[in-house]
Amino acid sequence: MSTMPTHVQIPADASRLPMTLPRLIEKKRLGEPIVMVTAYDHPSARAAEIAGVDLVLMGDSGAMTVLGYPSTVQVELDELLVLARATRRGLQTPFLVGDLPFGSYEVSDEQAITTALRFVKEAGCDAVKLEGGGATSVARARAIVGAGIPVMGHVGLTPQTSTALGGYKAQGRSAAEASRIAREALALQEAGCFAIVFEAIPSAVSEAVMPLIEVPVIGIGAGPAVDGQVLVFHDLLGIREGLGARFVKRYASLLDEMAAGVAAFAHDVRDRSYPAPEHGYSIDAEELEQFRADLATGDGA
Ligand code: KIV
Repeated sequence: MSTMPTHVQIPADASRLPMTLPRLIEKKRLGEPIVMVTAYDHPSARAAEIAGVDLVLMGDSGAMTVLGYPSTVQVELDELLVLARATRRGLQTPFLVGDLPFGSYEVSDEQAITTALRFVKEAGCDAVKLEGGGATSVARARAIVGAGIPVMGHVGLTPQTSTALGGYKAQGRSAAEASRIAREALALQEAGCFAIVFEAIPSAVSEAVMPLIEVPVIGIGAGPAVDGQVLVFHDLLGIREGLGARFVKRYASLLDEMAAGVAAFAHDVRDRSYPAPEHGYSIDAEELEQFRADLATGDGA
């Protein structure tokens, strides 16, 4: 693929320290770009760990990328907890954020705290993320932070409520909408969020809002002015069919490679070139002779 960048060296830093909230704040202070990627299982978590990312989001996008739902709306809390536990088992150093699924935090502060606690206690997440900066989301963020669990906010395009936003499209493209997003980000910061995701908003809007935000901002389709960037694992590696959103940059075409590998296996099975002798196990000639004799006399079966 012509747009695919050449491969970079994987940092082999066995002594890398685990990411913590103070280290994250320090990265923002120093202007060091923060790298976040989604992961949903052990292999994707291992790839994130080995690549040396700062933050891993066990995103509810896993509803679509690994569970095959048409959107993030349908996925159940217990399904995401399974994915979060698998992700946790693959990580040592990145800070792990679990995404609260739609319907698992909106009803009451108590529901939100109970759900957040499950991500921390049952799945070993370091923090949780929730979507939206309206009154309900801000109240839930404040409640969860009050219970001692770090919360990442998320404004702009919030897929769980994309129907109410008019569809899966960029947000903040009018002055009124951009002002709403700025107000929401400030409200989430004031509620105690340790970081905020800006999704699918004009780069110029991010740039204008950034001086007001003291916590790290991670962008996805929000331009370069933010403190860090996140992409969905399956998008950046080309494991998902289709082109994806404008902000997606593909660094590999793994679905094509996976399909080619399976097709090659199917071909080899069908033309009997697999398995070859080196894929089989041997038995000592005497043992085999004995076994055949036993079978013939009825002792071996
Ligand atoms: O679930 C997800 O993948 C997300 C990212 C797009 C930020 O929320």
